[in-house]
Amino acid sequence: MKLAIFASGNGSNFQSILDAIENGTLQATVELLVCDKPGAFVMERAAAAGVPVFSFSAKDYSNKEEYEQEILEKLKSRGIEFIALAGYMRLIGNVLLSAYEKRIVNIHPSLLPAFPGKDAIGQAFEAGVKVTGATIHFVDAGMDTGPIIAQQAVEISDGETEEDIAAKIHQVEHQLYPKTLQQIFEGSGKIFYHGSTVV
Ligand code: GRF
Repeated sequence: MKLAIFASGNGSNFQSILDAIENGTLQATVELLVCDKPGAFVMERAAAAGVPVFSFSAKDYSNKEEYEQEILEKLKSRGIEFIALAGYMRLIGNVLLSAYEKRIVNIHPSLLPAFPGKDAIGQAFEAGVKVTGATIHFVDAGMDTGPIIAQQAVEISDGETEEDIAAKIHQVEHQLYPKTLQQIFEGSGKIFYHGSTVV
């Protein structure tokens, strides 16, 4: 499976996907990193791993459609089959959604539909929940609203700080994302949502 990963920041999930490929637990190749924050640390990770990068600044384009068209050209020219968002801080628009229908997934650091959007870990901390976690879901036009593929819970113990919780969630994410991608690639036709098959 030829993957593109979209990321905006640190890229620890990007790294976990590369590591899973390297150790043979994920059968895929990462053919492109798309990054909307030139200078983000994820770009250094890509350089170190020899992954080609397309970076852009949204402000250099007149609208989302324009930059997504350019992204789409890069994806097509590299034969990208599947897109994994990993800390990409933008909503995906119609250009990419229609070209990659049911072939874009995202990881989110909460048990959706709880705490969508920005700072999900801070939201969970403020709410004082005792259980939070991570979710992998298909991407649609909404904010963290697409069909849920996999979730893993993380318990919050008394006295834990927001940083402690973040570290636990990230640890879970780094296992869950590569594992779920492999399941998707192996198990086409086996993902259910509202009782019916999504792919
Ligand atoms: C992760 O917590 C992911 O769930 C969220 O953004 C964060 C990205 O972290 N969408 P990193 O850049 O992969 O370290």
